[in-house]
Amino acid sequence: MKQETLTVIKNMLGKKSTDTFIAESKSTELKKTLNIFDLLILGISAVVGTGIFTIIGSAIVGGSGGAGAGTAVIISMLIAALASLFSALAYSEIAAMIPVAGSAYTFTYATMGEFMAWMVGWILMLEYAIGNITVATAWTGYLGQLLKGFKHILPDFVVNFPLWLRNDFRSMYAICDKWGWDVHDKMPFINLPFGLEIPVAVNVPAILIVLILTILLIKGVKESTRVAGIMVFVNLSIIISFVVVGAKYVAPENWVPFAPNGFEGILAGTFIIFFAYIGFDAISTAAEETKNPQRDLPAAILGTLILCTILYISVALVLTGIIPVNGIDTQAPLAHAMRVIGKNWYAGCISVGALCALTSVLLVYQLGTTRIFYAIARDNFLPSNIMKVHKKYKTPHIITWISGVLVILGSLFMDLNISAELCNYGTFASFVIICIEVLILRKTEPDRPRPFKVPFCPLFPILGVLMCGCFMIYKGISGGDSSLYFLLWIAIGLAIYIFYGYKNKRLKG
Ligand code: ALA
Repeated sequence: MKQETLTVIKNMLGKKSTDTFIAESKSTELKKTLNIFDLLILGISAVVGTGIFTIIGSAIVGGSGGAGAGTAVIISMLIAALASLFSALAYSEIAAMIPVAGSAYTFTYATMGEFMAWMVGWILMLEYAIGNITVATAWTGYLGQLLKGFKHILPDFVVNFPLWLRNDFRSMYAICDKWGWDVHDKMPFINLPFGLEIPVAVNVPAILIVLILTILLIKGVKESTRVAGIMVFVNLSIIISFVVVGAKYVAPENWVPFAPNGFEGILAGTFIIFFAYIGFDAISTAAEETKNPQRDLPAAILGTLILCTILYISVALVLTGIIPVNGIDTQAPLAHAMRVIGKNWYAGCISVGALCALTSVLLVYQLGTTRIFYAIARDNFLPSNIMKVHKKYKTPHIITWISGVLVILGSLFMDLNISAELCNYGTFASFVIICIEVLILRKTEPDRPRPFKVPFCPLFPILGVLMCGCFMIYKGISGGDSSLYFLLWIAIGLAIYIFYGYKNKRLKG
């Protein structure tokens, strides 16, 4: 092999040593103050959001070419919880061992080298930025439901503002198709030469909320544990009361057939409802600040998983028990269900709760996107001037704007299902890599202190790789636009590394 090729390969595999990371983290040593209760709050606030308030509708009914699971979504939820468990344990072992910011990107740099680190960072953007397209779109759904609750007070043009101003063009086509409407009656078109035309549909509320949060983040809004605690309280109260209020209206015949699309529907449902479990890495990133990580991390992860799964399953049973599967709304299913049983005021409460929950998820994920961008740019894979800090607010304003604009542009082209599936692809991929990293580190650094160890290693990490990997392969085989977008995303990432990142890294170090 030519010397040049060997040098390229050596560079691509070049690692940043674990000791460097640990030395970096020592300079900002954090107090060990968190107990299991704090970790549970952290977990629930990062996990409960769009998945249970919105995506549950698509997982039950189906969407973007995938079959729905029907009431069997509860099986999908159990499978998704199990896949999350293996990966969350793997995250915890590495986070407690290399307790520095940057999540999977940083860990990969320490174990698999520069090229894989870049690709993982790039894939993590899917989880955070593209995931936020889903959350912003869901936000609009609940805003619409809230406005409906004020239909006697607010003017009609506010309550029923045009569909093309609150949907992307794909959703507009789907809505027109569902109701048998002519798309030309429902949205404007820009006419181009040769008879070509571009549909105009812009999700204005989603764009506005992302803009507002971007500006807030630039001004330096900090998420405090207190705010997270309040959000968790609001979330849980709303979800529990949905179950309590709705339980009286459950008609068990609506649960039959239990799995209208068989195993295929259950798998498709698992792929999409997995979104509801994303966010566990938030618990593992607090490893360094945990008083007793070996005991409290797995307990908090398991606790959050069990609690969320019980809540999710209860919601699914009540939702599918109130309304026959095909009547379930996919934009704001819980609020819609309450309307169906005549509890309009309560639908309003659910909408307020959902808007709070989704806003906090948006904020956390928008912040996550900027952190990952920052970590990647600091390592010179992206132009370093995007890291510039705002003179007055001392925040990385350019990166924050880039993250916001990415979500806004994405919301023009992707609907809720596609962006959620794409986000799930990104998360599954990062979970696979994290599980592999646990196995690598056990071999390469067997003696390094591990405040927390994955139980039943190597079985659990291997099961994590298999479960998450199989879901990606399954989705790839079963097709759909998200699989193509995922490949496109990987190809763009590769191109940026080949034509920019690799060279810039060599120039700047
Ligand atoms: N699990 C988070 C949510 O459902 C991402 O919004």
